[in-house]
Amino acid sequence: MPSREKILIVDDDRFVRMALAEALRMWDYESLEAGTVAEAKQALASEEPRVVLLDIDLPDGSGLDVLTEIKTESPETIVIMITGSVDVPNTVAALRGGAYDFISKPIRLEEMRVTLRNAIETRTLRRQVKLARSEQASQFSFSEIIGQSECLLKMIDLAQRVAVSEVTSILLHGETGTGKDLFARAIHHCSDRANAPYLAINCAALPGNLIESELFGYEKGAFTDAKQRKEGLFEQAQGGTIFLDEIGELEIQLQAKLLRVLEGGTFRRVGGLKDIPLNVRIIAASNKDLKRASAEGNFRLDLYFRLSVIQIDVPPLRERGDDVLLITRHFVEKANLKRRGKQLKGLAPAVAKLFKNYKWTGNVRELRNVIERASILEDGEIVTMAHLPADMIDAQGSDGPNPTGIRLPDIGVPLKTVEAELARQAMTRTGGNLTQAARLLDISRDQLRYKLKKSGDYELSAD
Ligand SMILES: Nc1ncnc2c1ncn2[C@@H]1O[C@H](COP(=O)(O)OP(=O)(O)OP(=O)(O)O)[C@@H](O)[C@H]1O
Ligand SMILES: [Mg+2]
Repeated sequence: MPSREKILIVDDDRFVRMALAEALRMWDYESLEAGTVAEAKQALASEEPRVVLLDIDLPDGSGLDVLTEIKTESPETIVIMITGSVDVPNTVAALRGGAYDFISKPIRLEEMRVTLRNAIETRTLRRQVKLARSEQASQFSFSEIIGQSECLLKMIDLAQRVAVSEVTSILLHGETGTGKDLFARAIHHCSDRANAPYLAINCAALPGNLIESELFGYEKGAFTDAKQRKEGLFEQAQGGTIFLDEIGELEIQLQAKLLRVLEGGTFRRVGGLKDIPLNVRIIAASNKDLKRASAEGNFRLDLYFRLSVIQIDVPPLRERGDDVLLITRHFVEKANLKRRGKQLKGLAPAVAKLFKNYKWTGNVRELRNVIERASILEDGEIVTMAHLPADMIDAQGSDGPNPTGIRLPDIGVPLKTVEAELARQAMTRTGGNLTQAARLLDISRDQLRYKLKKSGDYELSAD
């Protein structure tokens, strides 16, 4: 039990105050005393006690008014009322007004001790829960979604409005790595479902029959392995949100089932006969164009229409303008937290330019990986070209695609080795014919022979 909690005793009877103060000291609390409403207010303001033992009949007013004031000023302060034994209406009023409990006079110290201990424990627990909730909420809130571009802000605005609405199915569409997961969580945590579960299932990761029992659960005996009844995600998530990731991969029969559930608002466990009412918001996500998938016969059009009543299109990173630099800064800061020694300060100008023009097919996830990689490789403070993956730099070439198909490895390679390797390949391809191999390399036979000799491969040539 936490010790040295500050407790304010408000009672006009000096003897009651003395007796209580003495008991509190014994129980290792710190006690403060007030005999009037005025003194109580002063002590509340200057000392901020955690608990107040509050008498109702005070010479200059009612303890109930003090209670009201405490509950508006600092609602977390615990108030235990001290009441006359027959003062039922006031006791009721006090409890309605937010008092934690009441102790009737004459005060029995043991009762007081237990009530106090319970009150403080309850409050500590409540605080912990509140803290955990706010930490969780902030971790998944929209403020975690970095970006100031107009298209992103519009999207966040839409998502926030949908989050607090009654809408029970939402479709998130966007390329891989654009933040669909992030949006789904933020929508859940900003909705009035936030205190109920958020459960995610990846429709591509499980075979159809498993998804069905994962989602809907099953009854004992529904299939060979069903030794006992199992609740599915829909049941576990009642009141909350289910995230159906990669919905485009859901098997066609299951699409039909899902549609029936969404339309009917009830579901059945596999092998079950009872219709269970569904109170779950479904957020489906896809990086495929589901409309096109419907046209191609791979997705049910009716399910697409049902899901896409509210469709949120998460824009690709390359369309978000300077967001790429804001998000870079965010990831650089994160990387710095992990880094010992030198801190990264930012990007070399050429890198910043490349970042803004790069196509980011892996979107924010790709950017995150690039920064993480650079922070590991870079010894200095600035991310330079040398620490970017080779294909990023290749892609930047304004002279178009690489016509040779030859790519410099990330860590570089001696030119001599490349020559020797290509000479060897030419010889292999031509079955060791020096003339033909030389022709492939556009050099003379003698030049090729010389190169092969230098690399120690000459003996292999059958010429
Ligand atoms: N705007 C953003 N600000 C900060 N971090 C972001 C942002 N968008 C995405 N991220 C981060 O990028 C990574 C990829 O995002 P996420 O997993 O949400 O993408 P996704 O759209 O679900 O991709 P996939 O289609 O591959 O499942 C995550 O680490 C996420 O936290
Ligand atoms: Mg995802």
